[in-house]
Amino acid sequence: MNIVDEIQALRQQVKLWRMQNLKVAFVPTMGNLHNGHLALVEAAHQHADKVIVSIFVNPMQFGLSEDIDNYPKTLEQDKKRLSQVNADLLFIPTSKIIYPKGYTDNTFVDVPNISNKYCGKSRPGHFRGVATIVCKLFNLVQPDVACFGSKDYQQLQVIRTMVEDLSMPVKIIPVEIIREESGLAMSSRNGYLTPKERLVAPVLYQTLQWLAEQIKTEKDFYRLCQQASNKINQVGLTTDYINICHAYTLIKAKRNDKDLVILASAFCGKARLIDNIQITL
Ligand code: PAJ
Repeated sequence: MNIVDEIQALRQQVKLWRMQNLKVAFVPTMGNLHNGHLALVEAAHQHADKVIVSIFVNPMQFGLSEDIDNYPKTLEQDKKRLSQVNADLLFIPTSKIIYPKGYTDNTFVDVPNISNKYCGKSRPGHFRGVATIVCKLFNLVQPDVACFGSKDYQQLQVIRTMVEDLSMPVKIIPVEIIREESGLAMSSRNGYLTPKERLVAPVLYQTLQWLAEQIKTEKDFYRLCQQASNKINQVGLTTDYINICHAYTLIKAKRNDKDLVILASAFCGKARLIDNIQITL
């Protein structure tokens, strides 16, 4: 696996592959890679000849109260894992390379409406940071396709909307959620969980499954979400939000909507867990 930290070296390699008519897939990450990330690399191989992975802990998507300095960094282990799944190139730029002027006065990409709900409401400015870095990485890598996990469903929809609205020539491939045996969605943030918290964290997904069953017959979505929230809180988690939404617009679902996604987030100790289930009625 080729490892580069400079823009010029990245562009040179991509140019060479383009001259050979090779198709390029891209998987952006913030590192501390687990099987969820590796599933994206495997999916990327299905859609292209060469796979580029980036690791960049993007300061622009972290709020002032969020501790970016303590974001887990496991670069040596990440490199090994990426080699095992045959990634072709790893791009690991520094903040100085990505934001030479700093990121507060930088040009940004704002995807309206969808960015301000749910996770966007709890983390103001988060999706502006995500859209801006993903746009910038797309411009650097210029991939044919890019893979994103459905675990971060709202992020996936923000990126799909950005790509469509700005006519970016990238095909977005969604990859399904990889879970631990307990059902808990894999996440770098799970590392913050104590052994006791790990026992209750799966209740978030269990409640989503319960809710997914209920909405087949019960149409009072507001009441169902209240009940679900109570179930989550009863075991000691703290629900941030739980909503039944239209799968594409993420607007709260109406009784007759067919393509739905249930989006949820809950605090478990220090960790803020997110999860979702997609349903077609
Ligand atoms: P990060 O949290 O490192 O996630 C990188 C990619 O891995 C995202 O597309 C995310 O949805 C996917 N992913 C994480 N856990 C997953 C799981 N359990 N199953 C399937 N896919 C999973 O998301 C980010 O980084 C950043 O916001 C980024 C897009 C890189 C922009 O900075």
